[in-house]
Amino acid sequence: MRVVSRSEFFDSGAKLFDDTDIIVIKSCFEPNSLQTALTQFQQTYKISEEIKISGPNSYNRSNYNRLDIGDFSQSNARFVRTCVDFDWNRSTQFAEVFIELQEIRDWFLDIKPSADHTYSLDGKTLANLPKILHYPQGGGFMCRHYDGYNNDCIPNILISLTKRGVDFSEGGVYYEEDGCHIDAEELLEVGDVYFHTSSTIHGVNAVDASQELDLSLNQGRWALLLSLEAIPAS
Ligand SMILES: [Fe+2]
Repeated sequence: MRVVSRSEFFDSGAKLFDDTDIIVIKSCFEPNSLQTALTQFQQTYKISEEIKISGPNSYNRSNYNRLDIGDFSQSNARFVRTCVDFDWNRSTQFAEVFIELQEIRDWFLDIKPSADHTYSLDGKTLANLPKILHYPQGGGFMCRHYDGYNNDCIPNILISLTKRGVDFSEGGVYYEEDGCHIDAEELLEVGDVYFHTSSTIHGVNAVDASQELDLSLNQGRWALLLSLEAIPAS
């Protein structure tokens, strides 16, 4: 794992992946504005509109909020709340943040979207999946996995919105690199960006598993996730 400043990241670019599979960019986004956006998001999020199974995504689909508990609708077992904020809707308080995150990723990977928000890579058409993730208090988790099974080897890129020791007490992101378990959450602060190659094993250890289950929004671990995946035309 390489931990770099924002300026070191832009000085080094793609060659960072020569030495490591995991990159953390410290203080990449301004924490106060992220925390303000998260508070506004929590105040407007409608738990009553959550769905349990979203099915395959398609172009121009409406945004949706989903709560996954277990493995009934996903390849990887998880307990996580997901709000999908598609490029073609951009309705949440994080729309501008996702645009900047997309620009950072695209610069790093040297890729560019078309006017319709899609990417043509290796003969395939891909689209962004911008997601706001919430791992609730009482055991929110993502099982151990790698991302390459469904994302054409484009790294997912994330932003921390909460801090262990402040917003929650236990669990969080971990990696496995060269046979070593890395507790990445230990160094992540609000506004840090983190990403990894598609073959890197990772997961989210249960968040505040020893505390009472709480499905409300004002606790637990929050993050933004931008992935790029094949989405069939509608
Ligand atoms: Fe993942």
